[in-house]
Amino acid sequence: MPAYKIHEHTFDMVVVGAGGAGLRATFGLAQKGLKTACITKVFPTRSHTVAAQGGVAAALANMGEDDWRYHFFDTVKGSDWLGDQDAIEYMCREAIPAIIELEHYGVPFSRTEDGRIYQRPFGGMTTRYGEGPPAQRTCAAADRTGHAILHTLYQQSLAHDAQFFIEYFALDLIMDANGACRGVLALDMAEGTLHLFKAQGTVLATGGYGRAYFSATSAHTCTGDGGGMVLRAGLSMQDMEFVQFHPTGIYGAGCLITEGVRGEGGILRNSNGERFMERYAPSVKDLAPRDMVSRAMTMEIREGRGVGEHKDHILLDLTHLGPEVIHEKLPGIAESARIFANVDVEKQPIPVIPTVHYNMGGIPTNYHGEVVQLKNGNPDEVVPGLYAIGEAACVSVHGANRLGSNSLLDLVVFGRAVANRAAETVKADGKQAKLASDACDKALARLDKLRNANGGTPTAVIRDKMQRTMQADAAVFRTGDTLREGVAKMRDIHASFADVKVSDRSLIWNSDLIETYELSNLLDQALVTIVSAENRTESRGAHAREDFPDRDDANWQKHTLCSVDERGQTQIDYRPVHMYTLTDDVSVVPPKKRVY
Ligand code: FUM
Repeated sequence: MPAYKIHEHTFDMVVVGAGGAGLRATFGLAQKGLKTACITKVFPTRSHTVAAQGGVAAALANMGEDDWRYHFFDTVKGSDWLGDQDAIEYMCREAIPAIIELEHYGVPFSRTEDGRIYQRPFGGMTTRYGEGPPAQRTCAAADRTGHAILHTLYQQSLAHDAQFFIEYFALDLIMDANGACRGVLALDMAEGTLHLFKAQGTVLATGGYGRAYFSATSAHTCTGDGGGMVLRAGLSMQDMEFVQFHPTGIYGAGCLITEGVRGEGGILRNSNGERFMERYAPSVKDLAPRDMVSRAMTMEIREGRGVGEHKDHILLDLTHLGPEVIHEKLPGIAESARIFANVDVEKQPIPVIPTVHYNMGGIPTNYHGEVVQLKNGNPDEVVPGLYAIGEAACVSVHGANRLGSNSLLDLVVFGRAVANRAAETVKADGKQAKLASDACDKALARLDKLRNANGGTPTAVIRDKMQRTMQADAAVFRTGDTLREGVAKMRDIHASFADVKVSDRSLIWNSDLIETYELSNLLDQALVTIVSAENRTESRGAHAREDFPDRDDANWQKHTLCSVDERGQTQIDYRPVHMYTLTDDVSVVPPKKRVY
């Protein structure tokens, strides 16, 4: 192996990723006086948070009755009782100050007549512990809320003393012999130089791995790079079988059409023009949680009531909303529908289909954002120096199914939480023990191997096989047979990475190499996802097994942990669900049948 020159940097904290969670953590850490670096593979305002549309949940009660305890109840029920109730309490209570803070930072929220933040209804958000009318809880900046939040957070980051390393790709975590994370090795993609970021704490805010699937609302950059590094470090991921399909991706293109459309009164219709959600969720109808709406749409299509030449999609009708609502509240999706579906939403319905949107699973953490693992019988053992937030993490506040608009919330609440935690536990300019001289050797050997990979299969070929397999075999509905077949196929595809071919040998703007790293991150997570799905013999939230149609709390109210080694050998374990709250301000919601 040639000698690679490494530029060393020392920070108190390093954040990997500059989406909503990463930026909130970055400036929060800097605000606390910690010397902080943020490294990101894309320019911060291009991070995928920019694509979030409908809004961010918080029980502000600006537009009707609400209470954070109702939000807590809805989130526990939405999670199908797989969410950790201590973490859910933390998120729903903290939502209120976190959103007011965003308002003060300058997020240009839409406004009510009397100048308060505008809030719209979203799926599964109710009042009075599910007994009252739908809650108007989702704070919106028209249908470009993520864009508004991301830009404001970046501006705040610039106002604080954090250092950005933009278009740097994180290659691997640097773990020491005691299992502590000591930083990260990254490649400056433009210069082709290697950088070791030594830090007391490394925060992974790298987003989800939606691109393990063929059709996803996620950007092509959503390759789960943090999760890939965590698995390579020998750690486990949690609840990876729970993959959210958003009911309304544009048919064919996959672009998101926000749930805010249904929040504003849009209706899903089958080929008979019927509002079929009335049959599946009589009380909340089109505003049922996403897992239920996606299943209902799939059932309609299967039973021959899909639309189009192949009867394989559904229509989202907003023609009755009128131009004023569309222009004021939904301008972004009107544009997307025109560009990607050639539809004028004032006159025609949008062709839509359930599309992969979000990973409920991720790197297991507690509600401080500290990564936890099962170790020596302790299910909550903290991995020293390692944190994860946002979609990369599994706190677990979303359990088996996330409610729409709880994701932007998760980003800001836990981005903030990690900064608060580090302020308590990390000493500014604290001494860092010397790294072993061979600390980077494994990561460098991998870099050298991939850069010179001379097999017979281009990266894109392996990626295409993985995406098609995941799309077909880890879908909205799953069965033992298709999952077993999918596991076998994914094991072969995972193994085929040994034969990958990288054509560009340079280190400067080597997109071939970067895509190969990304593929490797995706492959590990795809395998772990489908193996975890095959293992869980029940239906819960987004994991709908046709051969095990019921939720089975006695055997399965537990988090899956899954790891994978270099040879593709997977190992499964479990952590208990936290069925306790942090305070007496709210009571544990005991499991019951999840109907709406
Ligand atoms: O439908 C949407 O606007 C997406 C929101 C979310 O995933 O939270």
